[in-house]
Amino acid sequence: MFLRHPLNQSIEEWKGLSVWVVGGSSGIGLSVAMNLLKKGANVTLTARTSRPMEDLARKFPSQTLVSPADVREKNQVEHCIRNMYEKWKTVDVLIYLAASYSPILASEFDNEVNKEILDVNLTGFLNTASVLVPKFCKSTSGRIVIVSSVAGYRGLPNSLMYGATKAALINLAETMYLDLRPFGISVHLVTPGFVKTRLTNKNSFAMPMIINPDKAAENIVKGMEQGRFEIHFPKIFTIIMKTIAILPYRMYFYIIDFIVKTRV
Ligand SMILES: NC(=O)c1ccc[n+]([C@@H]2O[C@H](COP(=O)([O-])OP(=O)(O)OC[C@H]3O[C@@H](n4cnc5c(N)ncnc54)[C@H](OP(=O)(O)O)[C@@H]3O)[C@@H](O)[C@H]2O)c1
Repeated sequence: MFLRHPLNQSIEEWKGLSVWVVGGSSGIGLSVAMNLLKKGANVTLTARTSRPMEDLARKFPSQTLVSPADVREKNQVEHCIRNMYEKWKTVDVLIYLAASYSPILASEFDNEVNKEILDVNLTGFLNTASVLVPKFCKSTSGRIVIVSSVAGYRGLPNSLMYGATKAALINLAETMYLDLRPFGISVHLVTPGFVKTRLTNKNSFAMPMIINPDKAAENIVKGMEQGRFEIHFPKIFTIIMKTIAILPYRMYFYIIDFIVKTRV
């Protein structure tokens, strides 16, 4: 019984829920927004590029709010939150997907790029959560979905800073789950494998078991509905990565080296 019980509250009905999709202008975020709009949720879309968000909003005019922002700027994030409370009177769910990624070798150590990745992936999340969490605690309700990556499980080559921010998000999600559960707040951690988006278009290597963003969105929404803490997919790939991740360093480094040397 203890092992079967979902770690978060499940969701039976999306209609009327106010969901904030941060990183909603492309890829997985845009697909999650579309999926939730079809289920009847009220969705606020945030990212820097308005056009794709407005295109989606035109299809669901009464259910959508487009509130562009750069998540690195706390005043812009606060502006979005004010807009949402004005329009929907509440915010029930935060889904944080905004991310910056560039493959960087540690030998290159480009600190401009490192800082941009840190600011979008981590500071941006803190900018949103630091305003919303006190409100959720006060109302003893709310749901926070943190999109990390399998790249956060352990260090990987060519993943300087992106991997570190994703590892930090995993740790944050665990801590937030434990600390916020007494307040009735649900916290989900999402760790996808490869998804075909503009983010992975930057990779020059073959990406095993890659899925499309609509499939990723289906997995995320289903995982939330089921109240799962960690939502990971595609399952075969993530289970392999989880297994490799628990190995001692000597074996872990050997296997990763082997994969890197043999992949195309
Ligand atoms: N694709 C994969 O294989 C994969 C695997 C594991 C995890 N993930 C994670 O899934 C999430 C979504 O990634 P994706 O693949 O869908 O990538 P994507 O298509 O590049 O989407 C990233 C989103 O973040 C937004 N964003 C970036 N910088 C921003 C900023 N400064 N302020 C506000 N929004 C910003 C982008 O919008 P603007 O540029 O318009 O601002 C875009 O909407 C990310 O957290 C990523 O790390 C992806």
